[in-house]
Amino acid sequence: MEKFVVKGGKPLKGEVCISGAKNAAVAILPAVLLADEPCTIENLPDISDVATILRAMKILGANVRLINKTTVEIDPSHVNSFVVSKEMAEGMRASSYFLGALIGRMGRARVAPPGGCDFGVRPIDQHIKGFEALGATVTIENGMVEARSKKLSGSSIYLDVVSVGATINIMLAATKVKGLTIIENAAREPHIVDLANFLNSMGANIMGAGTSVIKIRGVDYLKGTDYSIIPDQIEAGTYMVAAAATGGDVKVTNVTPKHLESIIAKLRDAGAVIEEGDEYVRVSMKGRPKACKVKTMPHPGFPTDMQPQMATLLAIAEGTSIITEGVWDSRFRYVEQLTFMGADIQVDGKMAVISGVKTLNPAPVKAVDLRAGAAMIIAGLIADGVTEIEEIDHIDRGYENVVEKFSNLGADIKRIRVNNAPEYLKQA
Ligand code: EPU
Repeated sequence: MEKFVVKGGKPLKGEVCISGAKNAAVAILPAVLLADEPCTIENLPDISDVATILRAMKILGANVRLINKTTVEIDPSHVNSFVVSKEMAEGMRASSYFLGALIGRMGRARVAPPGGCDFGVRPIDQHIKGFEALGATVTIENGMVEARSKKLSGSSIYLDVVSVGATINIMLAATKVKGLTIIENAAREPHIVDLANFLNSMGANIMGAGTSVIKIRGVDYLKGTDYSIIPDQIEAGTYMVAAAATGGDVKVTNVTPKHLESIIAKLRDAGAVIEEGDEYVRVSMKGRPKACKVKTMPHPGFPTDMQPQMATLLAIAEGTSIITEGVWDSRFRYVEQLTFMGADIQVDGKMAVISGVKTLNPAPVKAVDLRAGAAMIIAGLIADGVTEIEEIDHIDRGYENVVEKFSNLGADIKRIRVNNAPEYLKQA
């Protein structure tokens, strides 16, 4: 078992380069199963969720060749299995994308139900509604989601909730299905546009990605492509908030500033100074942040995946902030950990009231999920002293080289094996 040991109290300074987007990568890799020729995917983040998907693709029969740490060539032509077992999916949320991709490739899929971060109930009824509209029969048997179809055809699907996963899964299932599929009330996240661009670069005919109506005209053949994944909006946002929370000055490079608009706006409300370049943002902050109100919403609203990091910044703001969670039923499990560090936060259902304190105190805490883990790192960087963070495998699912990247900004953060703690921890 490993944990992070963070010695905080120092402002972050310098430059950090953002990796490819996790949530685009975990959709684009399964999408390669639809291709009729090999594809090369570049700017893949080196994170455990990507490793899990590549391993599953190999087991399905794809020929996966790593060209370097961030580039992979995949030849799906020999894939003939439609089963993604629980062991292959290893609890990741994106396993559900194998449903859409395998339905699209073979008209059949049997996939372990998605796991991933625990935000309460994570239904897939809208995914199933989409597959059924295309003509598939979907059942849940022996703990596996099974989809079969004799013949699929294009259809209109209105999503009852704006769902990233359902939008992506229906796009995957429909790309090679005869006729016109229309997804209404579609999600508009940058990774949905990235998936459409990837599929279109192979010859798919997808229009409207990035708006709430996506039209997919089915094609028979998808040629190989060489495609580079967009930068990770949430990784960028995490370093931006960390810079502000430590009173630092950080240039965050290899980003698409347009994808960061809602995060930039909220950080400015909180008193950060932000300079925007073509492919970078520079964030600095002097003194304590200002309290503000944040409501998470589907894109282009403030992302729910930045909610724990923003709450950590606002925990040391002057005044009282309110965060309203507008996407998940239960995304405040991390708050208890922040209170161990002296934060004053009251949660009532989907709302958190944060009474700013001067600073946070070091404490042993846990990463209860991926973004909660990022928030614990930021909290540790604020607190003057040694904070230990356990259960960091959540963080490794989605942040590439997190220790190296924060260290390059002057942070004192180390990954240690639990039975190999440094002397000062053994004495504590
Ligand atoms: N929902 C339904 N029915 C469905 C699907 C979703 O009711 O069939 C509800 C959910 O319960 C939730 C809302 O719709 O209340 C939005 O869920 P969505 O389907 O958009 O989420 P997801 O596709 O499971 C992705 C990201 C999450 C991110 C959400 C929201 C991936 C792999 N995951 O999840 O990212 O929080 O969109 O933006 O893309 C993360 O990266 O840390 C992460 C958890």
